[in-house]
Amino acid sequence: MPPCKVLFIFGTRPEAIKLCPTILHLRRFPSEFAVRVCVTAQHRSLLDQVLQVFAITPDHDLDVMLPGQTLFQSTSRILSALEPVLRHEQPDMVLVQGDTTTTFCGALAAFYQRAAVGHVEAGLRTGDMFQPFPEEMNRVLTTRLTSLHFAPTEMSAANLRKEGIPDEQIVVTGNTGIDALLYIKSRLENGRIVAPPLPYLPDPSRKMILVTGHRRESFGDGFLRICQSLQRLAARPDVEVVYPVHPNPNVQDPVNQLLAGLPNVHLIAPQEYVPFVDLMRRSHLILTDSGGVQEEAPSLGKPVLVMREKTERPEAVHAGTTRLVGTDPQRIIAEAELLLDDAAEYDRRSHMHNPYGDGRASERIAAAIQRRLISPVE
Ligand code: UD1
Ligand code: UDP
Repeated sequence: MPPCKVLFIFGTRPEAIKLCPTILHLRRFPSEFAVRVCVTAQHRSLLDQVLQVFAITPDHDLDVMLPGQTLFQSTSRILSALEPVLRHEQPDMVLVQGDTTTTFCGALAAFYQRAAVGHVEAGLRTGDMFQPFPEEMNRVLTTRLTSLHFAPTEMSAANLRKEGIPDEQIVVTGNTGIDALLYIKSRLENGRIVAPPLPYLPDPSRKMILVTGHRRESFGDGFLRICQSLQRLAARPDVEVVYPVHPNPNVQDPVNQLLAGLPNVHLIAPQEYVPFVDLMRRSHLILTDSGGVQEEAPSLGKPVLVMREKTERPEAVHAGTTRLVGTDPQRIIAEAELLLDDAAEYDRRSHMHNPYGDGRASERIAAAIQRRLISPVE
């Protein structure tokens, strides 16, 4: 039998981090898989640095990013640019990951070409189409277009069953983001890679609060409230705030206006993946609205405060390492101070345990494709 032609389609930083380990794994079995890689480059700089870390050169680069792109622009540009790639490659299966505009467009393009879709990180839900926006809708639409669902956890698999997805199309794999994290973590620990020097002058007497934020539903007032909270926390003599600022202008503008130049606040460029893992390891606690960071922090024993009202990743909330704090300054400050001031509480919430994966998700995905659980949506 000829190898199964698998076309990976991705475009943003988190998709790249979470698909590169799977690409590398499938490439180890050339008689089973013919691997092709298409990047939309919905992100440009954030994407390229991840491809470098994993030494992956795409076969197709659609280069669709525009500065300050709207959802209308990115969706239409990505879908149009995918048509010739799908026609040329004629894949047996398209693999997409997560919930971005690229994910949805990749799945739709595959459907138009009548290729089977495998969805990595399937079944995450908040149940609210506007939180996160537009990602929850992207997930739901991608599920409809998918014939092989790689659910990271039992909870995400249960979400899919509730929506009527047949059991035989669902495989619980763990999250491939943990494959990537454990790979980088072990290479840092055994000295095979070295994190570059920190991009700011750290004060070892202070506890680091590491911050990331980019959700569209927080643009405007939400980001103003987040910045006010950080101003107040940074005023404590025992704290320093380290914030790699996402390049989206809706994030850059308020963050720079409200936080630039404050003592104990280090606004730094988005970090490449290896230095960011190093920053997470050095942090005391993490304040974020990121999906991937919520998944990674438990493997590093770092408590997380999630600056959102709802999360599609409730497993770590149930395990006690993660807590939802929204964007209300009072809640953010009270919860951060609890972790800064109460050592017993900090110990309880910083144990290492990861409900999201064990580093072997890519193996399970490869095995599931090999079992030919594929039946294209007609
Ligand atoms: C996107 C995803 C979001 C994901 C996030 C991860 C959608 C709708 N949103 O959000 O689900 O969580 O990526 O980071 O798919 N920019 C650059 N350089 C880059 C990347 C972005 O300059 O490398 C700037 C550009 O001005 C760009 C803007 O950020 O137009 C927004 O990028 P976009 O991909 O539309 O949305 P994100 O907010 O990054
Ligand atoms: N990340 C990174 N550099 C940074 C911030 C985050 O490499 O400055 C990594 C992080 O470790 C995680 C991923 O990017 O693997 C998360 O991406 P993001 O928060 O942009 O998207 P989300 O996961 O919310 O979709």
